Amino acid sequence: VRIAHVGIVVRDLDAAIQTYRLLLDREPKVEDVPGQGMLEAVFEFGQSRLELMQPTTPDSPVGRFLARRGEGLHHVAIEVEDIEIALARAKKMGLLLVDEKPRRGSGGSRIAFVHPKGMNGVLLELTQQE
Ligand code: CO
Repeated sequence: VRIAHVGIVVRDLDAAIQTYRLLLDREPKVEDVPGQGMLEAVFEFGQSRLELMQPTTPDSPVGRFLARRGEGLHHVAIEVEDIEIALARAKKMGLLLVDEKPRRGSGGSRIAFVHPKGMNGVLLELTQQE
C-alpha cells in the first residue's frame, strides 16, 4: 500500500533530533517505549513516518542492534492490505520470518517482521492497519 515508516537507530536521540528537525523543518513527537527499551522520535510526512530510535537499555533489541552494527537503518515498514496473505507468501517463498504470526503494533496495527537474511540485509516490517 505504502511505505509506512522507516526506523533508524541512533546513539544520542537529542542530538539526532536537532539534526533532523533542522534539516526537515518540523517537530517530532517523542515517545518513551518502555516495553521495547527505547526512546523514539517520530517525524510525520503525510502518511509516512521517520522514526529515530535510541535504546534506553543495552539488552533491548535496539540496544543489541546498536552494539552489533552501530547507528543506521534498522527497518523499513511496508503497509499491506492483508498481513496474513503477505506472511503466507513470505513463508511459501522460504523467507526466514522473525514472526510466524502477526502481533500487535502501535495504534491497533498488526505487524510481523521478515528477517534481513532473505531481504538483502534489511529487516522488513509488514504492517496492516485496522
Ligand atoms: Co516499525
